Amino acid sequence: MLEVISPIFRTIETPCYVLDEAKLLKNLRILKDVKERAGCKILLAQKAFSMFSVYPMIAEYMDGTTASGLYEAKLGHEEFKGEVHTYCPAYKDSEFEEVASLSDHIVFNSIAQLYKFKDRCAGKSIGLRVNPECSTQEEPIYDPCASGSRLGVRACDLTDEVVACLDGLHFHTLCEQNSDALEVTLKAVEEKFGKYLSRVKWVNFGGGHHITRADYDRDLLVKLVSDFRDRYNVEVYLEPGEAVALNAGYLVTEVMDIVENGRKIAVLDASAACHMPDVLEMPYRPPLFLSGKEGEKAYSYRLSSRTCLAGDIIGDYSFDQPLEVGDRLCFEDMAIYSMVKNNTFNGMPLPDIGILHADGSYELVRRFGYEDFKGRLS
Ligand SMILES: Cc1ncc(COP(=O)(O)O)c(C=O)c1O
Repeated sequence: MLEVISPIFRTIETPCYVLDEAKLLKNLRILKDVKERAGCKILLAQKAFSMFSVYPMIAEYMDGTTASGLYEAKLGHEEFKGEVHTYCPAYKDSEFEEVASLSDHIVFNSIAQLYKFKDRCAGKSIGLRVNPECSTQEEPIYDPCASGSRLGVRACDLTDEVVACLDGLHFHTLCEQNSDALEVTLKAVEEKFGKYLSRVKWVNFGGGHHITRADYDRDLLVKLVSDFRDRYNVEVYLEPGEAVALNAGYLVTEVMDIVENGRKIAVLDASAACHMPDVLEMPYRPPLFLSGKEGEKAYSYRLSSRTCLAGDIIGDYSFDQPLEVGDRLCFEDMAIYSMVKNNTFNGMPLPDIGILHADGSYELVRRFGYEDFKGRLS
């Protein structure tokens, strides 16, 4: 049945991340339409998706990349070729010169970091991350406005003197949210930082905008961005990660064994801990092609992995047919926060990376081996 996506899923080596080019292109067209209608620039947040073999394609639709530090700045600079914006909660002395040479925009997280490095940013656009102290979501781990957050300068700590050193302001408060949450956040930003907004050249609205999700209100986003831009005469940047490759990739895996312990447990060659760590970190149950919730279809299984971590459990699923050793399963929405976060815990091999091209052909882009495991150790 995986043939519905592609017959190739029967024969490729597993585990394998497969990027669905047609779905990526669909997202990119949406993002391009939004940026043209809103009159803003949109950057790829590489922390979510750094599959640089498709950067040239993404670069046709987006303006550049945003980096969380030196290595992502370097990757964006080398492979994407658009604008490079770097924001890091703290820059090291030893890396700053290279960060500055690679970046068009450099965003600082604190006034101390700004003052430490601002004279080493000649010719670069300097920004400061602010904290609007406006939580629009429940998860503290993904809420930069949660109390005690280290992320961004609060309005009570910002002064005219500091703003005089800046070209732009940056805020990032959202996670997988719709434009109504941005509307609430923008009210807080204007209330707290309004007097500074027309003194800067640009404002970066961060990421977490789920722009390509089916129920996302893009008309509201376009209105919010264009009104804001006109009101303060600033350039607006958005830097989504998830929205770029949302629902545009799979993790194809094989059933290696089926054991019983009060229930049927399938042991896969993919691991939550190694290959989809957000499943354990967020936590969430990843969508699986042609499956139901536990008990929904005739045959239920707990899907787990071949690491020795007892909690390396992907979730409980059901199927129309009993699973057999050698069956292929296809987890969905596996392009984002997967390849960038995987690891070789337990000496697990890293999954291959492939592309299902829009014309139906398949390309193996990268295969990893023992040297990738050993190379990170000493
Ligand atoms: C500063 C910043 N920008 C952009 C993003 C991208 O967010 P998302 O992938 O949710 O769109 C993040 C995510 O944590 C972030 O911290």
